[in-house]
Amino acid sequence: MKRNNKIKLIVLGVLYISLIAGFIVLALQDYSPVEREIMHYTNDSAPAFEVFDPSGESEAAEVTLADRGMALVIYRNQLWEQGADRDNFKKHYGGNYEFVLKNFNDFTVSEWCLKITCVPTTHVDSYWRAASESAKGEDDAVIIIVEAIKAGTEDRDQTIIHPEKEVHSDNDRVSFGMTIHSPRSSLGIKEVTLLAVTTRSILDNTMFWVLSVLGVILVFTTFLIIGLEIKSRQYRKQKEHDERIIIQSINTFVNFIDAKDPYTRGHSTRVATYSAELASKMKLPEDARRNLYYIALMHDVGKVSIPDSILQKPGKLTPEERKIIESHTTVGGQMLREFTAIPGIVSGALYHHERYDGTGYPHGLSGQEIPLFARIICVADSYDAMSSRRCYRSKLSYDEIVRELKSNAGKQFDPEIVNMMVQILEDAAAQNRLSEYNL
Ligand SMILES: [Fe+2]
Repeated sequence: MKRNNKIKLIVLGVLYISLIAGFIVLALQDYSPVEREIMHYTNDSAPAFEVFDPSGESEAAEVTLADRGMALVIYRNQLWEQGADRDNFKKHYGGNYEFVLKNFNDFTVSEWCLKITCVPTTHVDSYWRAASESAKGEDDAVIIIVEAIKAGTEDRDQTIIHPEKEVHSDNDRVSFGMTIHSPRSSLGIKEVTLLAVTTRSILDNTMFWVLSVLGVILVFTTFLIIGLEIKSRQYRKQKEHDERIIIQSINTFVNFIDAKDPYTRGHSTRVATYSAELASKMKLPEDARRNLYYIALMHDVGKVSIPDSILQKPGKLTPEERKIIESHTTVGGQMLREFTAIPGIVSGALYHHERYDGTGYPHGLSGQEIPLFARIICVADSYDAMSSRRCYRSKLSYDEIVRELKSNAGKQFDPEIVNMMVQILEDAAAQNRLSEYNL
C-alpha cells in the first residue's frame, strides 16, 4: 500500500474511533428525570416585598423575572380598588394577573411547582389553567403555590421545552392566571421559586448534533476518498497500459535498428540505460528520466535508411559514405516528427551527434544550444561505442575510456555530463560492478 494511502487510512481510522468514542461518552450520560429547583428569584438589595412591583395605579403592567434559563412573565390586565368591608379585609386592591412561564434551557421541564412569596394578607381569589393554593411563610408572608395541571386531568400539556425546539404552538411556555387581592396597589413579591422535574435527552445535547454533522462529513469524505482512489487506479491502469504499448512499439523498432548491424546489437538499449542513469545522477525528475530512456532507445532510428553495405563496411568510409551515415540524424528526426507522445524524441535523434564545441552534425550547434537530452545521449552513445567491440578494434579498457571521456570534455561532450559519467564509472569500479557497464 502506498504511504499516502496508509496515512489517509490511519487519519480516517483515528477520526472514526474518536467519533464513536464521542457518541459512547454521550450515550453513557445520565438522562433520567431529576426533580430539583430550577429557578430561585430573589433580590436581597430591594426592600422586602418589592422584588416585583408592576407599579402604579394603571391597570396594565408587565414584568419579567428571570433566573437560570427560566423566565416568569407577569402581566396585569385589570386593577380595582375594594372597600374595607368585603370579606373582613381592610381596604385593598384586586387585580387580574396572567403568568407565562418560559424555559430557555436545553432540558425539558415538567411537573413544576411555582412558589410566589407575597406580602401578608395577599389572597388568591380565583385561578385558571393551573391549580393554586396558599400557605403562610415567615413574617406572615403569603406563599402562593401554583402547580401544573398534570396531563390527562385537563386537555393541556404542562411540559415546557426550549422555544427553539417548539413543535406545537405553545409547548415552549405555560400560561395561567389568577385574581389576586393585595393590600397594595402593586403586587409585592418577595421571592419566586420554581421546583420541577427536568429531563435531558441525548437529542438536547449540542455535542450530539456537532458529532452527527461531523459524522456525516466524515462518511461523505470517506466515500469521496474511495471514489477518487478508484478513479486514480483506473487512470494509473490505463496509463500503464498505454505505456506498455509505447514500450512494445519502441522495442519492436529498436530490434529493427539493431538488426541492421550485428556489431551494434543491444547498442540502443545500453545507450538508453546509461542515459537514464546519467539523468538519475543529475537528479532529473522521474518523468524526464523515463522519457529520456525512450528517446535514447530511438536515437539511431534513422539508421534503418542506411544501406547495410555502408553501415557494416569494415574499412574506411569514403566522404560520400560518411555523409550517408551522418544522414541518419536528419532521417531519424524526420521519421519521429509525428511521435508526439514522447516530447523531445525528435531532438534526441536529430542532435545526438552535435558536439559541445560546435563541430558536430547535422547543424553544428554548440554548448547549451544542444538540447540537454541530446548532450546526455551523446556521452552515453560514445561510452557504449568505446566499451563495445567493433569489427575494426577491440573494446577500450576502463582507464582508456575514462581518459578519453575527460580529454573530450568541453570538446565533444558537455563537461558536466562527463563528470557525472566518470563518477558513475568510479562508483561502479569501487563496488566491483563494472560488468554492468559492459567492462
Ligand atoms: Fe547515432
